[in-house]
Amino acid sequence: MKKIGVFTSGGDAPGMNACIRAVVRASIYHGLEIYGIQRGYNGMINGEIFQMQSTSVSNIIQKGGTILKSARSKEFMTKEGRKQAYEQLQKHGIEGLVAIGGNGTFTGASIFYEEYGIPTLGAPGTIDNDLYGTDYTIGYDTAVNTALDAIDKIRDTADSHERLFFVEVMGRDSGYIAIPCAIGGGAEIVMIPEALTSIEAVTASLTQGRNKNKTSFVIVIAEGEKEGNSTVIARQVSEVLPHLDSRVTILGHVQRGGKPTASDRMLASQLGIACVEGLMAGRTNEMAGIVNSELVFTPFIDTITKKKMINPNYTRMVDILSV
Ligand code: F6P
Repeated sequence: MKKIGVFTSGGDAPGMNACIRAVVRASIYHGLEIYGIQRGYNGMINGEIFQMQSTSVSNIIQKGGTILKSARSKEFMTKEGRKQAYEQLQKHGIEGLVAIGGNGTFTGASIFYEEYGIPTLGAPGTIDNDLYGTDYTIGYDTAVNTALDAIDKIRDTADSHERLFFVEVMGRDSGYIAIPCAIGGGAEIVMIPEALTSIEAVTASLTQGRNKNKTSFVIVIAEGEKEGNSTVIARQVSEVLPHLDSRVTILGHVQRGGKPTASDRMLASQLGIACVEGLMAGRTNEMAGIVNSELVFTPFIDTITKKKMINPNYTRMVDILSV
C-alpha cells in the first residue's frame, strides 16, 4: 500500500482535526502518500481529493470542527454515487481509506468495501459515544464538558429565580451525553432513552423536592428521550405543577464545537495512528477503538448493530445524589 485517503463524515466532533493530523503524520512517518478527501463521501464522489504534507496539519490539533469539512451524503447511499466515488479513488491511485465518523459513516464504508474492496479502517468521531467497540468516541469528552459548563451557568440563574430548568442535550438515540451532565451538574432528574422515566415519576420527585424546601431544579433530558422532547415534557410537567416557574434550554450544536479536551486529543491521536498502522498490517472493514485501555479493532457491522449499554447504576446515582 502506497497511497491512502482520509476523510471526515457525519456530524463533526471536537478532536477530528487531531485525528486527521495523526493519520497524515503517521502516513508520512511510514513513507506513504496521504490524500485528504473533502466534504466526506460527497467529496469522494466529486473528486475533491488533494495530497497532504506534514505541514498541511500544522497548528490544528487544538481546533474544533474539521479542516476537511464534513457532510451527510445522500448521493453515496446510491449505487451510482458509490461507483463515481470508486472511479475517483482509482483515478488518484488511492489504495486504502481512513474514515473518521460515526454510525452513518461506517454503514457507508461497510457497503463500499463489500462492493469495491478498498481496504478501509474507521476512527470513531462523534460526540454521541454511541458506537460499540470503543469505551469513548472522539469528541464525546469535549461535548460533555461543554454541556456541563452550560449547566453550571443555568444552575446559577435557576437558583437566583427559584426556577425549574429542563436542559436538553444531544446524543441522538443515546443518553451517553446526558448521564455525566446530570451527575456532574448535580441535576435532580435525568431522562434518557435507555431508562423509563414517566412524567408521573418526574412530578412526584419534584413534589418531594419542594416538600424538602428545594427551590430550584435542573432536569437533564437526552434528545432521544422516549417521553418526548424537552418542550413536550416541560408542558406536561407544568400541567401537573403549574406553580413551578419553569424554562427550557436546548443546548444544541454548541456541544459540537470548541477546542478538544486533552482526553479527546489523546484518543484522536492514538486512533489515527492505529488506523494507518492497521491498514499497513492488512486490516480492513473495522473500527479502531479503546476498550479497557487496550487498542481493539471491531468489524464495522458490529459497531453499527451492537448496542453499547449504559450502566443502569448511573440513573440510580442521580436519584441518590439528589435526595
Ligand atoms: O451525531 C451527532 C449529532 O450531533 C447528534 O447528537 C444529533 O442528533 C445530530 O448529530 C444532529 O445532526 P445535524 O447537525 O445534522 O443537525
